Amino acid sequence: MTVFVVPMEAALGAEVRGLDLAREMDNATANEIAQAWYARQVLLFCGQSLNPDRLAAFSRHFGALDVVPAWRKFHPPGSKDVLVISNVIENGEPIGVLGYGEAEWHTDMSYIDLPPRASVLHALEVPQAGGETSFLDMYAALESMPRELRGAIEGKVINHDSSYDSAGGLRPGAATFDDVREAPGARHPAIRLHPESGRRALYLGRRRNAWIVGMDEKDSDVLLDALWAHVLQPRFVWTHSWRVGDVLVWDNRCTMHRRAPFDASARRVMHRTQIVGERPIAA
Ligand code: OGA
Ligand code: MN
Repeated sequence: MTVFVVPMEAALGAEVRGLDLAREMDNATANEIAQAWYARQVLLFCGQSLNPDRLAAFSRHFGALDVVPAWRKFHPPGSKDVLVISNVIENGEPIGVLGYGEAEWHTDMSYIDLPPRASVLHALEVPQAGGETSFLDMYAALESMPRELRGAIEGKVINHDSSYDSAGGLRPGAATFDDVREAPGARHPAIRLHPESGRRALYLGRRRNAWIVGMDEKDSDVLLDALWAHVLQPRFVWTHSWRVGDVLVWDNRCTMHRRAPFDASARRVMHRTQIVGERPIAA
């Protein structure tokens, strides 16, 4: 099979053309895709039509499927492997998660010990406007960092709060706290080594309630604000406007993402999988 990889005119992202993901992929093709993914961090496949089983089968090329405990009840009918991301409400009940508001910059589930390696989204229904998903290149963010700032974060560990989701909601069962040093979650190196690319990436997770372990709370906030101010530059970002049939695969180890808000009355329905990850390697 001939696969074309067309890089986006941005720091990261590429479209892969010439594949019907509903079909089995041979090893050579799967390997080409993996190499393109390591190089570009986010891959886009357009015009796909995947039922949950086929989406799961495609996703397994990136590793074993993972579960998201808090989202367990939001499966499409007949599938335990796929989750629904949606604002749609049917019979008074949401059919999926994340609503229609902004999902702030984050990398998926960095608040657990083994954060997911990859996430996959397949667009089934999209709004006319809004709901775009942006991705940020955390290799470039690190590599372009002013020397002093890099020196300040080198060797540090960040506590990733697990109590709030990226839509700003308190997760089920989470308690509130007054001091970020008491935030529940996981601790990971601020700079991590990507096991496949061999490159180093900044690993921030979410801004809210983050804490640089061992630092005075105020000093930690000042340093985190400086890091985020550096990272959130358009030159590191690629924004994707969804069309029905799109499939996106992103690497949570070296990117962050954000979802723009959209009109509450519009329908947005995405199917999602997540791939089991590894413990971040300090670099
Ligand atoms: C996610 C996520 C953004 C979107 O699925 O992890 O952040 O565009 N989704 O729906
Ligand atoms: Mn996410």
